[in-house]
Amino acid sequence: MSIEGQAAVIDGETHGPATSTMQAVVQDGYGPVEVLRLARVPRPAPGDHEVLLRVHAAGLDRGTWHLMAGKPYLLRLVFGIRRPRQPVLGRDVAGTVVAVGSAVTRFAVGDDVYGVAPGSFAEYAVAREDKLARKPANLTFEQAAVVPISALTAQQALCAVGRVESGQKVLVTGASGGVGSYAVQLAKACGAEVTGVSSTAKLDLVRSLGADHVIDYSREDFADGHHRYDLILDIAGNPSLSRLRRALTPTGTLVLVGGEEGNDWTGGTIGRQLRARTVSLFVRQRLTSALNKERGSDLERLTRLIESGQVTPSLERTFPLAEAPDAMRHLEAGRARGKLAITVPPLRTGPAS
Ligand SMILES: NC(=O)c1ccc[n+]([C@@H]2O[C@H](COP(=O)([O-])OP(=O)(O)OC[C@H]3O[C@@H](n4cnc5c(N)ncnc54)[C@H](OP(=O)(O)O)[C@@H]3O)[C@@H](O)[C@H]2O)c1
Repeated sequence: MSIEGQAAVIDGETHGPATSTMQAVVQDGYGPVEVLRLARVPRPAPGDHEVLLRVHAAGLDRGTWHLMAGKPYLLRLVFGIRRPRQPVLGRDVAGTVVAVGSAVTRFAVGDDVYGVAPGSFAEYAVAREDKLARKPANLTFEQAAVVPISALTAQQALCAVGRVESGQKVLVTGASGGVGSYAVQLAKACGAEVTGVSSTAKLDLVRSLGADHVIDYSREDFADGHHRYDLILDIAGNPSLSRLRRALTPTGTLVLVGGEEGNDWTGGTIGRQLRARTVSLFVRQRLTSALNKERGSDLERLTRLIESGQVTPSLERTFPLAEAPDAMRHLEAGRARGKLAITVPPLRTGPAS
C-alpha cells in the first residue's frame, strides 16, 4: 500500500502526498557542527523494498559525527566525495510506518518500528525493510531510537566475532559510551564476568549497567598484569595492541571495535586492525575486529533481550530536532553518558504542506 497522491491519518496526524516538504537537519558540505542547519526539504518516497517512516526520534552516535565531519576522508568514497549524497543527517531511527513500497512484506502502515534510516534527523525518513524491526513494546520512541547501531555493534562484536561464553572474563573499554553501554549489558546477559573501563565521572554509570568490576583509566592500568581477560572489546580504541595483548589470557580474543585517534585519511582503526590481524597469524591469541552490519534480524534478537529486561538503553538526554547541533556538541565534547536522542515534534493535524 502507498499513500502517494492521497492523505493518510495516523494517530491524529495527516500524512500527505509524497511531493510535500518536511523539516530536516541538513548539511551542504562536510565540516564542524556549524555546517548543520534546519531546513524544509522534499519528503522522500519509499522504493519497492522500503517504507516511509514518520520519525518520532533519532539516535546520535559517533558514526553520525563522522558523516557530518566527512572524516576519515576514506568514508567520502562511500557517502559522497565533495558533499554527502544524503544531505539529511542521522541514521538511527524510531517511528511509525506511514507508507510501504510495493514489495514490502514485513511491515504495514501504522506499525511502530526502529532501525536504520539514512536521513533520520527529519520528520520523515525512508528505510529498507530489512534494516528495521518492530519497536520493543516496553520502550519509548526516544529509547528505541538509541538502540540500533550501537547495540548491533556491541552484539555482533561480542557474539558473532568475540564468541563470548558464559563464565568468561570480559573487559570492555569505552564502557560508558554508546556501544560500551550495550556491550556491558549484553556480556552480562551472556553470563560473563564483566569489567568496564571508563573515566572517573562515569564509573557510577558503568556500575549501574551491571558491570561486576570497574576500572578508572585515569588511576589504574587494566594491563598491569593482575588480571587477564578471555575476551576484550576495545571500543575506546586508544590502548596499544601490546597493552591489550598483555591483558589477554594466552588464548584470549581481542575484538577491535572503535578508535578516534589516527590520521584524517583512514582514521584510528584501519591501521590497528591490519596490524592485529597480521600479528594474530603468529600468536595463540585471536586478534580481530568487528564492523557493524545493520541487520533487522539481529535487531529482532535485541528486541527479545530488551523486552525480557536484560538490556535497557542508557539514554542520558533528548534534544528537539532544532537543537541537533547542541546534541552533536555534547557528544563531541565527550560529555554524553551512554546515548543521546533527537526528538521530532508532532506535526500539525490537518492538510499537509
Ligand atoms: N566497528 C564498528 O562497526 C563501529 C560501530 C559503531 C561505533 N564504532 C566506533 O566505536 C567507538 C565508540 O563509539 P560510541 O558510539 O560508543 O562513542 P561514544 O558514545 O562517544 O563513547 C566513546 C567512549 O570512549 C571512551 N573514551 C574516550 N576517550 C577515552 C580515553 N582517552 N581513554 C579511554 N576511554 C576513552 C569514553 O569514555 P569516558 O567518557 O568515560 O572517557 C566513551 O565511553 C567510536 O570510535 C566509533 O567510531 C565502530
